[in-house]
Amino acid sequence: MLNCAIVGATGYTGAELVKILLRHPHVRISGLTTRQKEKIPIEQWIPVLPREIDLEARPYSFSEIRRSSDVVFLCLPHTEAMGTASKFLEAGKIVIDLSADFRLRDWKEYEKWYGVKHSGRQILKESVYGLPELYREKIRKGSLIANPGCYPTGAILGIAPLLGRGYIETDSIVIDSKSGVTGAGKKLNPATQFCEIDENFYAYKVGRHQHTPEIEQVLSDAAGAEIRVTFVPHLLPLERGILTTAYLRRKKNVKRDAAAEAFRSAYAEEPFVRLKPEGIFPALKDVQRTNYCDIGFWADPDSDRIIVITAIDNLIKGAAGQAVQNLNVRAGFAEDEGLKIW
Ligand SMILES: NC(=O)c1ccc[n+]([C@@H]2O[C@H](COP(=O)([O-])OP(=O)(O)OC[C@H]3O[C@@H](n4cnc5c(N)ncnc54)[C@H](OP(=O)(O)O)[C@@H]3O)[C@@H](O)[C@H]2O)c1
Repeated sequence: MLNCAIVGATGYTGAELVKILLRHPHVRISGLTTRQKEKIPIEQWIPVLPREIDLEARPYSFSEIRRSSDVVFLCLPHTEAMGTASKFLEAGKIVIDLSADFRLRDWKEYEKWYGVKHSGRQILKESVYGLPELYREKIRKGSLIANPGCYPTGAILGIAPLLGRGYIETDSIVIDSKSGVTGAGKKLNPATQFCEIDENFYAYKVGRHQHTPEIEQVLSDAAGAEIRVTFVPHLLPLERGILTTAYLRRKKNVKRDAAAEAFRSAYAEEPFVRLKPEGIFPALKDVQRTNYCDIGFWADPDSDRIIVITAIDNLIKGAAGQAVQNLNVRAGFAEDEGLKIW
């Protein structure tokens, strides 16, 4: 049994992680923490769980988690995770960080987009980007796994196979994403209150969303060249799920059916990427509460356009599910252990 702790367990991703780890046959939950001064019984923040599950979030204590745990999941807000990660890494733990703090390789980029000093610069080079479909071999050896952002997960999985094979133009990638409100976390925020979001739909952080450099970093890896994208996120009046549409242009010498072949060969063996037949597109209900990323595409026979649509659950494939997938890769468990959820 692997002893796993969750720091910042009482938020949205923490709750999903608890539920997934409770199903995992090779994991014991060895600690759940909160910033609050009093213990919080599990039924107060995950009331759906059966009463016999006897867990509680305890006030955070580094020494307690260090003593009890082999793996530490950090479900803290970005900027809060970097200091905590450094200490657990130094103590020899495997750290899987769900925040953005270790996703960008260049601390200057981090400081530019997140507006704070990066206090973990010295360990940034140890971090591995936790998208198993692209970086599985690195994850197997990583001790600091930077779990991807929710928007980047859907966008990258939809575009990387085409870029990797040089099938699309690199100067005109447009990514349009729509997310449910849990993507913003549990903290109070006027923009995500019921009366603001109910019956509403709007774009936000246009041209300046902090997931832009993360998408560009990974797509640049896939292309072997520097990639810039236009990324526009939107908020949907829904609890969960992200639907992403990527507008791409096929290169002149590339045949129309090359797109299908690129997706098939990239994802044929992937346990959590499901490809739709060409011209059939995923919906959020197909993936909510699962670790799947569903992908549909259309290569227009009358033009150079390729449209790719992906759907994920932001809290599962976009966060807690992917974190457990990373744990499974790192620990050598079957990749779908704990993740047979639908
Ligand atoms: N929501 C998503 O869809 C999603 C997807 C991918 C990645 N992420 C990332 O995952 C991390 C967690 O996201 P979340 O949605 O679970 O957030 P959340 O619902 O706001 O929960 C974060 C938890 O961390 C604790 N916390 C809050 N502020 C803190 C602080 N200043 N210092 C220490 N602890 C603090 C809180 O618990 P206590 O008050 O009990 O301490 C809170 O419940 C974030 O970095 C987020 O960007 C989220």
